[in-house]
Order: sequence, then C-alpha cells, then structure tokens
Amino acid sequence: MLDQKTKDIVKSTVPVLKEHGVEITTEFYKDMFKRYPEVKNMFDMSKQKSGEQPKALAMTVLAAAQNIDNLEVLAPAVERIGKIHVDAKVKAEHYPIVGECLLRAIKTVLGDSATDEIIEAWGQAYEEIAKIFINVENKMYEAK
Ligand code: HEM
Repeated sequence: MLDQKTKDIVKSTVPVLKEHGVEITTEFYKDMFKRYPEVKNMFDMSKQKSGEQPKALAMTVLAAAQNIDNLEVLAPAVERIGKIHVDAKVKAEHYPIVGECLLRAIKTVLGDSATDEIIEAWGQAYEEIAKIFINVENKMYEAK
C-alpha cells in the first residue's frame, strides 16, 4: 500500500503531467523501442505515427494519478484496456519495462523538477497501478 505522503506527491504532480503528458509518453515510446526492440512489434505503429496511442497512455496515467486514493474507480477502464492488452499478448513481465521507461521519460522531460522523491513516489504508484492491470489480465488469460 502507498503511504499518504507518496499519494500526496503523486497527486501534486498531476498539473505538471497534464502540461507534459503527451511529451513524456512520446519520449517514453522512443526510448522503450530503442532499449527493448522486442516489445516494438506488439504495437500498431500507425497509431504511433498519428499520436493516438501516446495520447491514450498519457490520459490513463493522469486518470490513475488523480484517483490514487481510490484506484477502484479505474476498474472499467482496466477491464477495457486489459482486453486490448491480452489481444496484443501483453504479459506481467512487460510491466517493469514500461515502468522503467516511463520513469526515465518523466525525468528526461521534467529535468531538475523531477526530484528523487517524485520519481520514487511515481515508481511506487506505477507498481500499484501495474498490479491492478496484471491481476485483471491474468484472469482474462485463465478464462481463455
Ligand atoms: C499500467 C501500465 C499501462 C497502462 C496504463 C496502459 C494503457 C494503455 C492504453 C490507455 C491503451 C490504449 C487502449 C485503446 O486503444 O483504447 C493501451 C494499449 C496498448 N498497450 Fe498498454 N498500458 C500499460 C501497460 C502496457 C504494457 C506493459 C505493455 C507491453 C509492453 C502495453 C502494450 C500495449 C499495446 C501493445 C497496446 C495496443 C495499442 C497499439 O497497438 O499501439 N501496455 N495501453
């Protein structure tokens, strides 16, 4: 469970993320595809070009941050996105890759304003959010 201080740090970064959301996720994909080329062919690259997928991910990260006190409200979105993930064969082992690259992108784009404390808080928040996706997706794989 996240402590209150971590939650407060995450929530207080929402305005900054709103400002840089698309920039952060665009940087995130560029970095992830370079470091982990094995995940690249899971993605529909035409969506990358149109900017559709970077925007979707940015908005989901924001929604999660805004609701860090009660992540249950994300359930319908996780259910919908989970189906897309399962179709794309996204597995639990891919989540740390996304987490690592997302944190690095936040640092790259925000520079000095992304303090160690902020990065640490986001690392913990990402893990909580990833756990929810992984649980839902594991159930979907089992039901197949
Ligand atoms: C908590 C972490 C994650 C969040 C919040 C997230 C969010 C999203 C969202 C919002 C979409 C778009 C759904 C739509 O089209 O309506 C999506 C699609 C997708 N995600 Fe994730 N995702 C996460 C983790 C991952 C991981 C770990 C992978 C695998 C490396 C992954 C691979 C994909 C793929 C392949 C698609 C299909 C879109 C495309 O073809 O470009 N995601 N995700």
